Amino acid sequence: MNRAPNPSSGIPVYLDFNATTPVAPDVVTAMAPFWTDHFYNPSAAYPEAVTVHAAVDTARAAVATLLGADVQSIVWTSGGTESNNWVLHGIWRSRPFHRRRVVLSAIEHPAVTETAAALESLGAEIVTIPVDSRGVLRLDVLDAVLDEQTALVSVMLANNEIGTLQPVAEVARRAHAVGAWVHTDAAQAIGKIPVDVKTLGVDFLSVAGHKFYAPKGIGVLYIRPGVALPPFLMGGGQQEGRRSGTEPVPLIVGLGKAAELAHTGLQDGWPGRQAVLRDSLESQLREASPALVIFGTRAERLPNTVAIAHPGWTGSTLLAACPQIRAGTGSACHHPDDTGSPTLRAMGMAPELARGLVRLSLGRETTAEDLEVAVTALTQAIQQRST
Ligand SMILES: Cc1ncc(COP(=O)(O)O)c(C=O)c1O
Repeated sequence: MNRAPNPSSGIPVYLDFNATTPVAPDVVTAMAPFWTDHFYNPSAAYPEAVTVHAAVDTARAAVATLLGADVQSIVWTSGGTESNNWVLHGIWRSRPFHRRRVVLSAIEHPAVTETAAALESLGAEIVTIPVDSRGVLRLDVLDAVLDEQTALVSVMLANNEIGTLQPVAEVARRAHAVGAWVHTDAAQAIGKIPVDVKTLGVDFLSVAGHKFYAPKGIGVLYIRPGVALPPFLMGGGQQEGRRSGTEPVPLIVGLGKAAELAHTGLQDGWPGRQAVLRDSLESQLREASPALVIFGTRAERLPNTVAIAHPGWTGSTLLAACPQIRAGTGSACHHPDDTGSPTLRAMGMAPELARGLVRLSLGRETTAEDLEVAVTALTQAIQQRST
């Protein structure tokens, strides 16, 4: 399942699973009848539609189980971008008037930072909290910023570029103490590490299906029970008026199946196996190219993400010299690295090094053989240029 192309086949080895994953075969199978036989609108009252409605409820229950959430707290969206936009815009509209401040980490995804920039033009005060040299939020700086003027604190759970985990439970405790709402963008964490909304204590959590073997175009916003968030999309009143628009049932069923697979994988020790492969990749790379820099290793981080740079190389030139692999040069969802990785820059890395970021992100079926292909390709490229 989800096997990256076999290296011996000559097809490049896919190591960009943080950008997106394939749809798992079991997910495709689960979705299939909902394109055709079970096409009915889940809001209709006749029996065939009731069956479709029930499938949506089953999917919601699977996502709730994965997140440790109550079922009524799960709202379908089109993905991570919509979920993040909804929270920031929604809180801005519903906050008490004196709470004008929105606090972010310095390493948020553009789906948060660009939305915050839009709020700034509406009068919000945006405060960015730095990260330390490990790539972890500075809680001491957060403490100095939080007060009764703060409406929302938004800190991602796992960084998309280097995989470092952020102290979201600590953030939530501190932000709630001043009456602010708390959001975490968990797009990169779901399916890779256990995530429990109650342990995190957040009010809102964003999920992107295509990062964990569900299709693109489907996601979730978790809204803590009892927390009010005005709708972002208005219309026919679906999802109890929280997010209008006919539910994309096949995608929802797919997300539910992917959530089930993720839950099983996490219980079966998938993160541990992934970390073993990641560590082996890093030590092979270090041994073969001693000048290589590996980021994020001093922090808690995702088990599947290896972030490297080699002095003298930009990420895109290094990857162009390695046609045997497909990897990322930084954040997955926007254009490559003219100005360098925003995360590395926020960590205080020199621009030359920040421009060098290559992100190798492993998937569930990545093998040691795939990683050998990557090590050989990267090492040969680096050696050929320096000889
Ligand atoms: C951390 C993070 N947030 C949000 C997104 C956007 O999610 P989507 O593609 O589902 O809109 C991404 C995608 O790369 C991401 O990595």
